[in-house]
Amino acid sequence: MNNHELLVKNVWSVGANDPGRRLFDGLIPLPDGTSYNAYLVKGSEKTALIDSVDPQYSGKLLENLHAQQVTKLDYIISNHAEQDHSGSIPAVLQRYPEAQVVTNAKNRDFLISLLHISEDRIQVIHDGERLSLGDATLRFYLTPWVHWPETMVTYLEEEKILFSCDFFGSHLAPEYLTSKDDEATLRAAKRYFAEIMMPFSPIIAKNLEKLSPLDISMIAPSHGPVFGNPAFVMNAYREWIKPSYRNKVILPYVSMHGSTEVMVNHLTKELEEQQQIPVERFDLTEADIGELAMALVDAPTLILATPTVLQGAHPAAAYAAMLVNALRPPLKHIGLIGSFGWGTRMVEQITSLLPNSKADLFDPVLIKGLPRPENLQDLTTLASSIATKHASIFTN
Ligand code: FEO
Repeated sequence: MNNHELLVKNVWSVGANDPGRRLFDGLIPLPDGTSYNAYLVKGSEKTALIDSVDPQYSGKLLENLHAQQVTKLDYIISNHAEQDHSGSIPAVLQRYPEAQVVTNAKNRDFLISLLHISEDRIQVIHDGERLSLGDATLRFYLTPWVHWPETMVTYLEEEKILFSCDFFGSHLAPEYLTSKDDEATLRAAKRYFAEIMMPFSPIIAKNLEKLSPLDISMIAPSHGPVFGNPAFVMNAYREWIKPSYRNKVILPYVSMHGSTEVMVNHLTKELEEQQQIPVERFDLTEADIGELAMALVDAPTLILATPTVLQGAHPAAAYAAMLVNALRPPLKHIGLIGSFGWGTRMVEQITSLLPNSKADLFDPVLIKGLPRPENLQDLTTLASSIATKHASIFTN
């Protein structure tokens, strides 16, 4: 994708691709890089930039505006204060001293505290308010908690383009400006939803509903490709927030000396061969947590397997539990299994890390040392209990 490309008449993509970035927020793996999309709208009287880019790409954004012969910029629309979209606003304000930032009151406060932008450079708008650029009209809709409290979207009425910022985004450094609506694009959008949006699913459902009366011909998010067929990604969101469960068990595990792995293998075999329930396993010493997050979007059951280290869970398992707690997947059932040496408080520790969870807890299966065949019967019973619970989910 070029860094400044015509989207439709008088609207350009002027952001930056970052194909080499491999970690976001010091936390989220980015196997496909990402992009920071910003858009330029030239009306007959005024010119507006919609969002900016990560501050490391400020120079690229200014270069792109220069390439589009922007000598005067009237407005910088800020849909979201997180720095990957707002971080270059100070550089743009410096280059274009007449420009005003246009945003909502909450975002104004964030921009002042996060970026030290002067209050007199910020114009506050309200939900549903319009801003005329002459022959182009921007309308603003507040969509809080997608995924910060100040998030909003901007709708270009004449062209029916929704500039949605993180909403409907995906961490992809796209080769093409417009989505091919293929499986890879859908996976990237789902991964992004799982990592960023899933904790806010109920409020995202309300915001989707709020936007549904709009006639949208194109969604232009601030990460990843533009959607020329908005239904492709909007319908996917509707499915992910419901949720529509799949008959599967997610099994993240750690094993130190092989004993917990024996348990994991036995449970996997029982579930897959006896109960016909697919298992998605994640070795937590090497797992991509984005893949784990994505697997949790539509999973009814999580079984976390960990040995005991100094009486508690292995730190990698504790980390996975904290992640599950933060992402709030719609799990109905959780189970804890693992081997221990001289004693364990693993169950108490892991459950204390899951205060947000509304899932039922299966009876834990804890085995001292290397499991003997007779110990494994408890895992056979656990597989059977999981199958009973799944039967009630998938027959109702
Ligand atoms: Fe892409 Fe919430 O920032």
